[in-house]
Amino acid sequence: MEGFGAGKVILLGEHSVVYGHPALAGPLSYGVTARAVPAKRCQLSLPGTLSRPQRALLTRAFQRVATLCGEPGVKVTLESELPLSMGLGSSGALAVASTRVLLKAAGRDDSPQEVARLALEMEQEFHGTPSGVDHTTSALEKLLLYKRTPGQSTGRLKVLKSPRPLKVLVALVGDRSPTKHTVGALRERQARWPERYTRLFKQIGTLAAEGAKAVEDGDLEALGDAMNVNQGLLAALGLSSPQLEDMVYRLRGLGALGAKLTGAGGDGGAVIGLFLEPEPAVKKLLDDGVRCFSSQLAGPRAL
Ligand code: PMV
Repeated sequence: MEGFGAGKVILLGEHSVVYGHPALAGPLSYGVTARAVPAKRCQLSLPGTLSRPQRALLTRAFQRVATLCGEPGVKVTLESELPLSMGLGSSGALAVASTRVLLKAAGRDDSPQEVARLALEMEQEFHGTPSGVDHTTSALEKLLLYKRTPGQSTGRLKVLKSPRPLKVLVALVGDRSPTKHTVGALRERQARWPERYTRLFKQIGTLAAEGAKAVEDGDLEALGDAMNVNQGLLAALGLSSPQLEDMVYRLRGLGALGAKLTGAGGDGGAVIGLFLEPEPAVKKLLDDGVRCFSSQLAGPRAL
């Protein structure tokens, strides 16, 4: 028995989503798979390569969802195709995959909405109070305009239909500090200069709403432009770095309609470029030793 949790990219609106502004996010074709086999008691089997604190955290988070699912008698193993802690929603994907397989094993409702509701328990163990955009996008596997309910890790969402294939190139650069730290440091700046930061968050939220409309209109050029402007505002918020900027400009040079960091940002992490056809750029970057891949987030797929 298997459960899949997709990784995600935020096209527009990371960080400002924490403050109640909309974000545009879509699922990656890569993610985490949880596999369950019958066992005497409900348990998570982890690879020996993990550190003791990592094991303790994962076990605690798993136990929280296992309890809610009625502790079905299965042993669960996890396999991730996603790089961890790089801004691609690996923890949300892990939470969704585990929840999905446990609900299936328990013979319970495993609808995307129910998976999202319970996976939140696991996400909270990892992140405290996230905006909820990661695990929601992962569970629903749809392109979403997501708006957090203040103070909660849930929110209102609109599923978007794209008349055109929405393809991104994802490139990984450097190392990244945990999301918690980046979000916390920004919160301190925001508390010190609230008007300035609130203004920037609001502008990013407007870009996300404009980007959603551009998607529905099939106007990828307008979406790409919103991504470029969003990158400028993320840099203004202190969330970019020379390494991330270099990659943003590289992707634009390779023909991206828009490029920006995605996820929490900081010193390193993931950069996305919106491309009509990303494969030539993927090939060029791989030849140059850059870790990267492409994924279609929404829209009609070639047969
Ligand atoms: O970098 P990630 O995948 O942890 O994404 C974080 C997204 C933020 O908006 C920065 C935080 C949040 O809770 O939405």
